[in-house]
Amino acid sequence: ASAKTLAKSLLPPPKLDVSDPSLLKASSAIFASAILSVFPMAITLGLEIKAFKCKDIKHGDYQCNLAMPLYQKLKAAGIPLPHGVDSPQKVAQLIIDEILDQDEESNPVLCDLSVNGPGFIMSRIKASYLSNGVNCIIREGAPSMPKTCGGGRSSSSSSNTTTTTTTDATNNSNSDNTVVVDFSSPNIAKEMHVGHLRSTIIGEAVCRILEYTGSNVLRVNHVGDWGTQFGMLIQYLKEEYPDFAAAGQSDGNNDANMPNITDLTLFYKNAKSRFDESPEFKKISQLNVVKLQAGDPECQRIWQVLCDISRREFEKVYNRLDITVEECGESFYNDKIPAVIDEFVDRGMISVEEGGAKCVFVPKFKVPLMLQKSDGGYGYDSTDMAAIKYRLHTVKASHLVYITDFTQGDHFQMVFAAAKKIGWVNDDSHRLDHIGFGTVQGEDGKRFKTRSGDTVRLVDLLDEAVSRMESSLKERIAEGRANISEEEVHETASAMGYGAVKYFDLRRNPTSNYIFSYDRMLDTKGNTAIYLLYAHARLESIITKGKADHGIDIDALIREGKAQIVLAHKSERNLGLHLQCFADSIEETLKDLYPYHICDFLYELSIAASEFVTQCKVLGSPEMESRLLLCRATAITMRQCFDLLGIRHVMRI
Ligand code: ARG
Repeated sequence: ASAKTLAKSLLPPPKLDVSDPSLLKASSAIFASAILSVFPMAITLGLEIKAFKCKDIKHGDYQCNLAMPLYQKLKAAGIPLPHGVDSPQKVAQLIIDEILDQDEESNPVLCDLSVNGPGFIMSRIKASYLSNGVNCIIREGAPSMPKTCGGGRSSSSSSNTTTTTTTDATNNSNSDNTVVVDFSSPNIAKEMHVGHLRSTIIGEAVCRILEYTGSNVLRVNHVGDWGTQFGMLIQYLKEEYPDFAAAGQSDGNNDANMPNITDLTLFYKNAKSRFDESPEFKKISQLNVVKLQAGDPECQRIWQVLCDISRREFEKVYNRLDITVEECGESFYNDKIPAVIDEFVDRGMISVEEGGAKCVFVPKFKVPLMLQKSDGGYGYDSTDMAAIKYRLHTVKASHLVYITDFTQGDHFQMVFAAAKKIGWVNDDSHRLDHIGFGTVQGEDGKRFKTRSGDTVRLVDLLDEAVSRMESSLKERIAEGRANISEEEVHETASAMGYGAVKYFDLRRNPTSNYIFSYDRMLDTKGNTAIYLLYAHARLESIITKGKADHGIDIDALIREGKAQIVLAHKSERNLGLHLQCFADSIEETLKDLYPYHICDFLYELSIAASEFVTQCKVLGSPEMESRLLLCRATAITMRQCFDLLGIRHVMRI
């Protein structure tokens, strides 16, 4: 333990880097340099010098809680303290005095320092530092990305000439940070349900966030196209619809004979009851699975049609929601499984169960992974073992992310453990994540179903959100409160309706369950996409009016390098502070990949913006230019967040 403490204590303390937009790092650096100059021996005490964002803005912006442990450790180590310094509060005061002694160059960040309670040091971020940050957003047309992701903020001196910030995330990508994100992944010939909707929405956001921060992202749709369900479906169709394969292949969408997903669900139900009732049907179905997996042409043809029908349905959902995902389903791994099983056999890691099933046991789990069933067939476990090896060693991804419902948590922990046990995973360079999300419930608290008890078709669910939004927009138009015409209703309603469904999911910790409620997700108040999209459009409308009614063209100001931000009013400063938290919220998101951090940031930003526009007169005020620019910086940052969440923004509502 002492070696560890020593190693930690030798970590270089954070240094101020003004091109790094992280406020957490900047404030930590100021505290660190002050602490070390007053107590140079602090470095040997194993204390990590860190600042925190204050929970309540009333008390301060950032705080440092180190004076207490520092005081205790100095005393315990018998290190003499300066004369009269006999309490943590006095240690805190010394640190503050040191910071106040520093000139603007060494401390452009912190002001208004004070000791609170038992020795907490409270501080504010200097308005000049914040306005510098806002200026950067305006100049770049984008918020500053965390430096660890290849971003940073341009230096203030270069305001109207060249800028040094890299906003192009691809600059930072290299083969070492290829991420495979396995998401959406519905099952062929089965209805895509709300669970898949969650995976799709969360997955899209995770991909966007990783892409933004410089990863090379492979979006994988691991569709269930290889299960035992195909044996019975094929048999049922052979018997009942001998022309099925032909009908499916006769071109396009408009073919009336072409079965659709609703037919498929019906086929599935019928086939299933035959399977359960007739032993003969069951046997022949199982044979079909073997035939299909061995490449029998007729089985393959029928299977292909089934896949096409399902795919068409999935596409409808993806198109509505702007989802990009590449299909690479279970069948892709079929021919890779035998070698994987051999590898486990060679390593002596297989235990053959009664009946002949080949299993792998991993620590902490009583049930094993089954790599081969007793009938010789492969299942979900087999495919995922082949897939993980493929992704780590053929694709050479350094990070794998799987997004499914939480009930599959054990499955993935076992897959990860088995991959580690056999030596496919390098603990230093590979990261494996499973994001397990909770269930979506109906308003009755039970599983989400239609009134008649059927699975809700996702396409219908999405259409409903849009149609409700359309009615509400039409009402606004009728009341003369809208800035859009009838022609724009559909597009605006789509952006808002889909955005609402997505945001309702993304804004919470994925592990939680939630009740699906159109009323709540479409509410114009509270933490909803609708509220946020209105807040954004309101800022844009102020900017438009500034130009139309007051002749202030902020784009021209920015182009000519004349944009100057002054954060004088409390609510201006507060908004500037929130804007500057963008980079830290991205870094926070990268830790657990939960998009809700970005939602939290976005929501707080909108509240700060609303406060600003209600408390500060923008149009026609002496500060109009600066305030319009602040509106612009906020709108830019909001758009970046919407984009990361996969939500389409609208400029007018
Ligand atoms: N098809 C599965 C389901 O519907 C999800 C697949 C997730 N990905 C994986 N590699 N197992 O639950």
